[in-house]
Amino acid sequence: MSTGGDGWPWRERAASATPDAVSITPGRPLRGRVRVPGDKSISHRALLLAARGEGTSVLRGLSDGDDVRRTAVAIARVGAGVVPDGADTVRVAGGLARLHEPEMPVDVGNSGTGMRLLAGWLAAFPWFAVLQGDAYLARRPMDRVVAPLRAMGATVDGRDGGRLPPLAIRGGGLHGIDYSLPVPSAQVKGAVLLAGLGADGPTTVRETTVVRAHTEELLHAAGARVEVAGNGSVVTVHPGPLEPFDLAVPGDPSQAAFWVVAACIVPGSDVIVEDVYIGRGRTGFLDVLLRMGADIETTMRGSTAADLRVRSASLRATDVGGDEVASVVDEIPVLAFAAACADGVTTFADAQELSVKETDRIATTTAALRALGASVEPRADGLVVAGGGRLHGGDVDSGGDHRIAMAAAVGALAASGPSQVRGWGAVATSYPGFVGDLEELQA
Ligand code: S3P
Repeated sequence: MSTGGDGWPWRERAASATPDAVSITPGRPLRGRVRVPGDKSISHRALLLAARGEGTSVLRGLSDGDDVRRTAVAIARVGAGVVPDGADTVRVAGGLARLHEPEMPVDVGNSGTGMRLLAGWLAAFPWFAVLQGDAYLARRPMDRVVAPLRAMGATVDGRDGGRLPPLAIRGGGLHGIDYSLPVPSAQVKGAVLLAGLGADGPTTVRETTVVRAHTEELLHAAGARVEVAGNGSVVTVHPGPLEPFDLAVPGDPSQAAFWVVAACIVPGSDVIVEDVYIGRGRTGFLDVLLRMGADIETTMRGSTAADLRVRSASLRATDVGGDEVASVVDEIPVLAFAAACADGVTTFADAQELSVKETDRIATTTAALRALGASVEPRADGLVVAGGGRLHGGDVDSGGDHRIAMAAAVGALAASGPSQVRGWGAVATSYPGFVGDLEELQA
């Protein structure tokens, strides 16, 4: 197996499985079972905590996308041992004694989660470190993590006073803080808690809207002293050493959402998406689709994962907004295609955060929907999608955004004519095997 020279087993697969454009042939129902990549949010955090764990952690089923590979390379650059072991397992040799300042800038590619979590993780150490990314990431706001890290005592700078990448971080000597999230962001919660591992006392993060809980779940798995109160909304971490841990990463619900929506809108479909994480802050898309009349059967596998069986159904419009948005924000592009295939007018509101994702997803979702024949109006805080008609298919561009590419491919499956999705290469960041899985489901 090639390791691409950086210890990461899946590099070649990621690059070769994502051509620049894909053609989508509609009409064939999707049938069978599919496993999506391991959850991306869990994978980033598992690698970062394993690097601090005093011993060897065994991580199975990590996301095989480029975003997570970059985080694996980052921890290797600071001294963790990252060794593939078989087809889907990575052993991480961690511990504070082996970690050291990165000699070179750390390049996280397209990954906002990677940059924000690493900013917090690196700030815990008395090092100088530079984080950089690609041209898309260069436009994404970093002040949301820079402000609390500065409040903890880190020196952080970046373009525009620290608002934009690259970031230069001089960490160490941090103080614990009590921090209320000004934006409902699990990345910010994660960055502050990871920095808190190196502070001189406890660090508390308070959320006003439910966001994903992976950082605290994995801190617990790594033996950190972490307290969760207020129905999950208040998390406190205490500094201290971490233990190594074994983890089987469940499937990524945000990737599962593509097959769930596809099975809903392509007539005659019957798909089981196996072993999908369905814990705190990640199941909003299922609630939205069930409101729309989707036929989804959930069979639990343990307490936070499930098999999802989805059969096609007639969908009706719904309204998505308020506190629900944080738990569906990554799935809105594909839900917008579900809305285009539903009866009635669906509104997505209170979703300004869409405009600071990998692309401005209010704009790129609108463009993708229109290219395939949907009727949609962008709003400052979301979208209004008029369903009822049939998508005609066409030429669509991802704009360099993995989720737009895959959402468009899903919409194209329900269209009356063929489509092409250009800019498909972006899919390598999170789901390099998407086209292979589609071919199997269409067989
Ligand atoms: C993520 C949190 C969300 C999500 C992103 C992954 C995480 O971002 O959109 O894809 O792993 O914490 P925000 O924290 O910006 O809401």
